[in-house]
Amino acid sequence: MSLPENFLWGGASAANQCEGGIFEDGRGLANVDVCPSGADRKDVITGRRKMLEMDAAHQYPAVEAVDFYHHFREDIGLLAQMGFKVYRMSVAWTRIFPNGDEEEPNEAGLRFYEEVFKECSKYGIQPLVTISHFDCPIGLIRKYGGWKSRKMIDFYLKLCKTLFIRYKDYVVYWLNFNEINMILHAPFMGAGICFEEGEDEEAVKYQAAHHELVAGALAVKLAHEVNPENKVGCMFAAGSAYPYTCHPQDVWEALVTDQENYFFVDVQARGYYPSYAKKRLAGRGILPVMETGDEEILRCYPVDFISFSYYNSRCIAAPGNGGEEAEGNLFKSARNPYLKFSEWGWPIDPLGLRITLNQVYDRYQKPLFIVENGLGAADTPDEKGEINDCYRIDYLREHIRAMKEAVEQDGVDLIGYTSWAPIDLISAGSGEMKKRYGFVYVDKQEDGSGTLSRWKKRSFYWYKKVIETNGEDLK
Ligand code: BG6
Repeated sequence: MSLPENFLWGGASAANQCEGGIFEDGRGLANVDVCPSGADRKDVITGRRKMLEMDAAHQYPAVEAVDFYHHFREDIGLLAQMGFKVYRMSVAWTRIFPNGDEEEPNEAGLRFYEEVFKECSKYGIQPLVTISHFDCPIGLIRKYGGWKSRKMIDFYLKLCKTLFIRYKDYVVYWLNFNEINMILHAPFMGAGICFEEGEDEEAVKYQAAHHELVAGALAVKLAHEVNPENKVGCMFAAGSAYPYTCHPQDVWEALVTDQENYFFVDVQARGYYPSYAKKRLAGRGILPVMETGDEEILRCYPVDFISFSYYNSRCIAAPGNGGEEAEGNLFKSARNPYLKFSEWGWPIDPLGLRITLNQVYDRYQKPLFIVENGLGAADTPDEKGEINDCYRIDYLREHIRAMKEAVEQDGVDLIGYTSWAPIDLISAGSGEMKKRYGFVYVDKQEDGSGTLSRWKKRSFYWYKKVIETNGEDLK
């Protein structure tokens, strides 16, 4: 038994973390542009500190990022050398609609992505496009408060329609929102939400989530109308919640944590609000306001497949039962004593990927796609300028092995695997450049210096072989 012949191997990135060029060719400003690096980033991305423009006191890593905007031909060429079948990327909303509410799209922005897709197709690389990867025009935040407002649905659908029509010949795989559940943890970065004094934050987040859920379902409808070949997936930040102990209270808390994340997929894949969510939200008086027809929209247009990021599992203790805290992909959890941790304190749990794949597949019985998985590390070139990132190879090898076991031994239906991120880019959580994930090193340092040249790391050659052998040779 092995992975299917047409398994989609590749890598994933996001516009704001790699493109730069944010003031070029008519592009407008987005929430992700004004998230600074440094100590204030957390308050900004969580919506507690309102920052809708840049100031002189902060650094904004998205301004240049790793300049994919001017390096895309070279970068896609490197992906092709590794034998990529798929490249997951996102479009910057404000390249296409600079303020979000223009009548006509910005042709220069559309042309840029057309060039990117042409470059991919030259090498037979299939794009997998995230329509909104933590991306919301500042214009729409100022006028409407981002996804707090139901008006966002129309602006988002206008973007979708423009993309589906213009790129019909290049793209069939789409994701409607990156890590939709992140709206609960980083609401400004995820959905352009800033909280006002006295606002009920949970109520705001779930109302905004409802708008995204309706928009996401209508995007599925539209995508199928424009091209019946289109396949639209949802995307969530996954990683099963383990109970810290077998104490029933810990088990219960872990279940509730999983439900908080599955809530989004329950709606997007099954087409209705699960009963636990209805009861709990109603119990707290924060059931989102729905318009007539919303429930039907959700029911009629579920996603075609389910995608997720997996970096680590989580470990959940009932209040007072747990030990130390661990870091994680914007989620904090209890420190799992059986696991090792990355330099950034994220747990490393390959078997957790197999567990997650099984749980998600059991729950939804729809094709799955792993669209992010990788190790953030501070790579340092040696005296010869080489980067021997064996730790990254070890991490990926064990995760790919676990993924294969889920497919080959457990029967999970998996479309593909895109590692995060094939070429170094800016970290979303911390805004750091030194937290690197790539197979390709970018000469850009934390202080912004560097030539932006691209160097192949050891993992580059390793991943090339993995793809060549369809995952058979993981040595
Ligand atoms: C996911 C995001 O949360 O994790 C990516 O979809 C992000 O945008 C990735 O970069 C890794 O997180 P970080 O904080 O290390 O960049």
